[in-house]
Amino acid sequence: MTFNPLLEKGTPIEKQIRSWHEIAKKPFNKTEVDCYTRTRQILMNGIEVEAWNFKHNFARNCNDTEVNKFLAQTRRIEDMQQTTVNWLTPADQSVLETTLGYEQVAVDLTAWMAQNEPDDYVKETFDFGLLEDFDHLYRYSQWAYLEHGISPNDIVQGQTDIMLSRPTQNHHNDNRIRLRKPYDKATADPQTKVNIYTLVAGEQQTHNYYAEHGMEYGNQCIRETYAEIKDVEEEHVTMYESLIDPTESWYEKLLLHEFVEVCTYYNCMEDEENDRIKKIWEMFLDYEIGHLQIAANLFKKYEKRDPEEVIGTKVVLPCRFMSQKEYVTNILENEIQKRLDTKMGYTEIDNLPDDWPSYEIQEKVGEEGSPTEMTIQIITAAKGRDLVIADKKLKKKQLELLEKGLEDIAQAPDTITIEEMNEMMDEEEIEHECV
Ligand SMILES: [Fe+2]
Ligand SMILES: [Fe+2]
Ligand SMILES: [Fe+2]
Ligand SMILES: [Fe+2]
Repeated sequence: MTFNPLLEKGTPIEKQIRSWHEIAKKPFNKTEVDCYTRTRQILMNGIEVEAWNFKHNFARNCNDTEVNKFLAQTRRIEDMQQTTVNWLTPADQSVLETTLGYEQVAVDLTAWMAQNEPDDYVKETFDFGLLEDFDHLYRYSQWAYLEHGISPNDIVQGQTDIMLSRPTQNHHNDNRIRLRKPYDKATADPQTKVNIYTLVAGEQQTHNYYAEHGMEYGNQCIRETYAEIKDVEEEHVTMYESLIDPTESWYEKLLLHEFVEVCTYYNCMEDEENDRIKKIWEMFLDYEIGHLQIAANLFKKYEKRDPEEVIGTKVVLPCRFMSQKEYVTNILENEIQKRLDTKMGYTEIDNLPDDWPSYEIQEKVGEEGSPTEMTIQIITAAKGRDLVIADKKLKKKQLELLEKGLEDIAQAPDTITIEEMNEMMDEEEIEHECV
């Protein structure tokens, strides 16, 4: 089913205030929840944080009282929605468990978008970022196992593979070369706009989660692992947000934000199997349609244009969560050696010049070691090797992938070398499933 949200009424804003009891609902059960219910919950929290934050920024740049009243009224609603969604997280879900959820969001969401992205350059950027979050999932999984004694599969439930990718120490770039070419607002497909806005919100919240929670561990290597990966998430926000046409007006951006909320809640509602949580997506979809109506009217009034020129005539699906192992394996095998060039495009390790600007950054941040490499050193010291969850065929390629994906220049002193990886692969696999 599809529909044109501009033709719907939604819930009137005055009816969107709820009681504290209704706002802070009962959390899900971490051992029973479907992994994709959790990924939807993580993503929608990011969407609401962005909606709230954007409206504050808009207000700080706006001296129109009517508009500021709308922003004040609805950003409180966005904030209440954020509480409801984020606080579905149960108190006994550890920071590392939640973190595996965040990286599962990044991998499976980006893979879905890449396959539904009409713009080839944007798709290439999604594929590039995808491999980095896939490596983060592998690094954090080692710690979830060592620190909490859980199997990463308790969280990803066999839907997402866990193995090395482009090594995290190679994700550190000169942030200036992360900048991409923006789409053209006049010609870009609404799917492209919604995909990018959605991903920016997700990556931003991932960054914020690591920034706020990485220090909750006393283990210095875990703290530094969060510091290192958080910084990559900053690069991801920089990369994805630069794809947005910077000449979109505030009203156009407002319209897009509400449309993104409509599309993401609609997609969540369509896919959700948990009845209680499905009702939340349904209710918030109606709220967002209410917001969209007003944003569309403001756009017509101030821009004298038709909202359909920006968002089209139907909802798009930006976040269909499903297992993407096959797609990710394909990108992993073919694109692990890809790197950013200095002209907003892509190149490969073998073609990088000696003065590639990211080498300087990598040399500095990794001069005393890379925590995400040390993570593998530590689990290898304890268990003989790293924890990998993938099918046999893919597991066998670990060495080949490392050879292809690791830069020779600017390696951190504690890098897992090709020889060390080779030795590890002779060791018995780590028994990680609960018996
Ligand atoms: Fe919202
Ligand atoms: Fe990540
Ligand atoms: Fe990311
Ligand atoms: Fe909204």
